[in-house]
Amino acid sequence: MTAPVVTIDGPSGAGKGTVARCIALELGFHLLDSGAIYRILGLAATENRIAFDDIPSLVELANSLELGFPYDNHHTDVMLNGVSVGRKLRTQMVADAASQVAIHPPVRSALMDLQRRQARPPGLVGDGRDLGTIVFPDAELKIFLDASVEVRAERRYLELIESGQIVERSVILRDLEIRDVRDRTRPVAPLVPAADAYVIDSSEKTVADVVAETRDLCRAKGLIQ
Ligand code: C5P
Repeated sequence: MTAPVVTIDGPSGAGKGTVARCIALELGFHLLDSGAIYRILGLAATENRIAFDDIPSLVELANSLELGFPYDNHHTDVMLNGVSVGRKLRTQMVADAASQVAIHPPVRSALMDLQRRQARPPGLVGDGRDLGTIVFPDAELKIFLDASVEVRAERRYLELIESGQIVERSVILRDLEIRDVRDRTRPVAPLVPAADAYVIDSSEKTVADVVAETRDLCRAKGLIQ
């Protein structure tokens, strides 16, 4: 591996994205939001009327994606073919589409190279489901960030309300539970902690707590002074 990699995996709403951005900023590393890649594919499939089980067409679509992930202190964007699509990706419909296209092994393989190419000097912080287990098995530091489904649903609810969407708490909770089962039980790349991952439960912790814990682990690995 040419550049050091930090992976932060875990279920939806555990706080991976925020922690990954904070740590990437501190280390001066590139950032990979791998969920956004699956969301883009789900969105593009929907817009192009490609069925979520039409594997050849999904693979062709996956091979055509040109992505970038610019970020600052407050925000991570996603660029598709040079156009910002970040806001369009954060809906429940797109999240559900993402988890349906993500179950197919050929689709996951097609997205593997795209993810690995992001590991450029000076380094990469990536968040997802299988970054520590499958995409970057040799990562310098692997975190598995978890939280109870109720806490995660509440966080997702507040995030969606803040972005101006009209949603119901109970619907968010049900959708998260369905997506959790799909992500944890799929035969390929299921959501599980890597054997050498540090597991952090964020249910009773603030973002600042988790960032501090991750920073300490980065220091122990020699990634920060
Ligand atoms: O992390 P996020 O909620 O944006 O991910 C959306 C969906 O994409 C997940 O529910 C999961 O099915 C899929 N995904 C995946 N592997 C990743 C990241 C996301 O299968 N590395």
